[in-house]
Amino acid sequence: MSELLAVRGLNAWYGRAQVLFDIDLRVDAGEVVTLLGRNGAGKTTTLAAVMGLIPGVRGDVHFGGASISGLPPHRIARLGIGYVPEDRRVFSDLTVDENLAVGRQPPRPGAPSWTPQALFDLFPNLAELRRRRAGQMSGGEQQMLTIARTLMGHPSLVLLDEPSEGLAPRLVEQLARALGTMKAEGLTILVSEQNPRFARSLTDRAYVIEKGRTRFEGTLADLDARPDIRDACLAV
Ligand SMILES: Nc1ncnc2c1ncn2[C@@H]1O[C@H](COP(=O)(O)OP(=O)(O)OP(=O)(O)O)[C@@H](O)[C@H]1O
Ligand SMILES: [Mg+2]
Repeated sequence: MSELLAVRGLNAWYGRAQVLFDIDLRVDAGEVVTLLGRNGAGKTTTLAAVMGLIPGVRGDVHFGGASISGLPPHRIARLGIGYVPEDRRVFSDLTVDENLAVGRQPPRPGAPSWTPQALFDLFPNLAELRRRRAGQMSGGEQQMLTIARTLMGHPSLVLLDEPSEGLAPRLVEQLARALGTMKAEGLTILVSEQNPRFARSLTDRAYVIEKGRTRFEGTLADLDARPDIRDACLAV
């Protein structure tokens, strides 16, 4: 498979405090890669740094073979990386339909393209809420809408930051199914999670980070064989 995202030697600071130390990771086209780690491990900082949202970084990020280090977030988005942050970012005063319209971009060659109808098939609960203002939806529904709106930009890679956090079990299942469809459509996915059980069946490879350092890279079956890593680095 061809390399779509490559992060090499990523270091990040908030002020003087260094929080990422030489993180290396890669995501090949079509893969689902899970970034695992406890609270404060550095998952959000890693994804935000890829997206150009962290000012204090050093290191190298390549997307589709070209360096995106130092580019502003909107340029990175336009190159085809969709980002769903851990706090839901909907336009509260707009309806579901209007939120989707805001996210629409021209189709991107080589990336799966999405219509509102395809997204309602993906997230059936949103279909019933099309005219609801997003501010009047549950946190879980807003999370689904944030993902759906991101897909309206036809990304080739999506970064999902702890998408299952705080979701009711029914929505976690719906989300896992949606990720399966997204993968089947050819979307490449980098997803952060605290729990390796989420999206387990979809995950091709995983990284475990602890205190800003990569502690493990491999399949989840490989991780099962490393209880030392699981006990030290994961909250399971
Ligand atoms: N805005 C900030 N200013 C200063 N320090 C921060 C800031 N955001 C995060 N940190 C620190 O950076 C480290 C990594 O945090 P990060 O949010 O990337 O972890 P995380 O793995 O996403 O955690 P969580 O599972 O709680 O979301 C932590 O020590 C955290 O306290
Ligand atoms: Mg986080």
